[in-house]
Amino acid sequence: MTRPRLIVTRRWPAEVERMLAERFDVRLNADDHPFTRDEMRTALASCDALLATVSDRIDADVLGTAPSAKLIANYGVGYSHIDIDAARARGITVTNTPDVLTDCTADLAITLMLMVARRAGEGEREVRSGSWTGWRPTHMIGTRMSGKTLGLIGMGRIARAVAMRAQHGFGMKIVFFNRSRVAAETLAGLDARQCDSVEEVLADADFVSLHCPGGAATRHLINRERLALMGPDAFLINTARGEVVDEAALVDALRNRTIAGAGLDVFEAEPKVSEGLLALENVVLLPHLGSATRETRVGMGMRVLDNVDAFFAGRTPPDRVV
Ligand code: DGY
Repeated sequence: MTRPRLIVTRRWPAEVERMLAERFDVRLNADDHPFTRDEMRTALASCDALLATVSDRIDADVLGTAPSAKLIANYGVGYSHIDIDAARARGITVTNTPDVLTDCTADLAITLMLMVARRAGEGEREVRSGSWTGWRPTHMIGTRMSGKTLGLIGMGRIARAVAMRAQHGFGMKIVFFNRSRVAAETLAGLDARQCDSVEEVLADADFVSLHCPGGAATRHLINRERLALMGPDAFLINTARGEVVDEAALVDALRNRTIAGAGLDVFEAEPKVSEGLLALENVVLLPHLGSATRETRVGMGMRVLDNVDAFFAGRTPPDRVV
């Protein structure tokens, strides 16, 4: 029996690549180069399943009219880089990898909160540049995170994991906005108040952490007007998707100090980061590291494998999104 042909768009942890090669006719991306649009088109037209990730933009044009791929198994939980409607229209199943990256992404959101509030990036740069002149009472004064109010936009798994850490580790008060009402059972273990609007969260919170999906519906959800609702002592944290924040408006808010700072793991035009952000001290910039731990990246690969196995065995993949 011929084995399904898989194309993997980027390098994956070696043990997962080995398992894929044992079970499928797989083409790996040995030099890890990002696929061009033409390569992506060719891949979709010549495989049974494309194993893609966030750095691949898969729109209607790239999908073409009659792709041979019947499955796009995404390595990652977010899938706003895939045109889901176009995939559905072509009869392509799309899967993602929820759960396995919840803890590590939540850990990174907390890392960003602490880094920006305690000026850890600035401090590190000072030490490395040799310009630190020693301890003094007025040196590099930051903001206390413990006991403050954390506002979450979106209250899915990752947001709840951030809230647990913030409340039980740092004694923070939790407010949040979510499009639908969140049941009390879902909030078990948390004392959290659901607000009626994004605006209410922005006005209340000392730290605002974004946890909504990306895509057209949330593009520039955090825009100039909404940034203006945050106070001059408030911090914005984004581990969700770059497009959720109007980056130019954020640069202005940071530059004019209408907000205190930001911690960003994702950007509007990754891997390009706007010059305005690079020039500022009151922003911490990380290269999309939310899920970047050995444990999680292997877990994500295994989750893709489960989905691919199920699909080619004729079962519904456990993480089917379309
Ligand atoms: C995710 O899983 O969505 C991470 O951002 C990596 O893509």
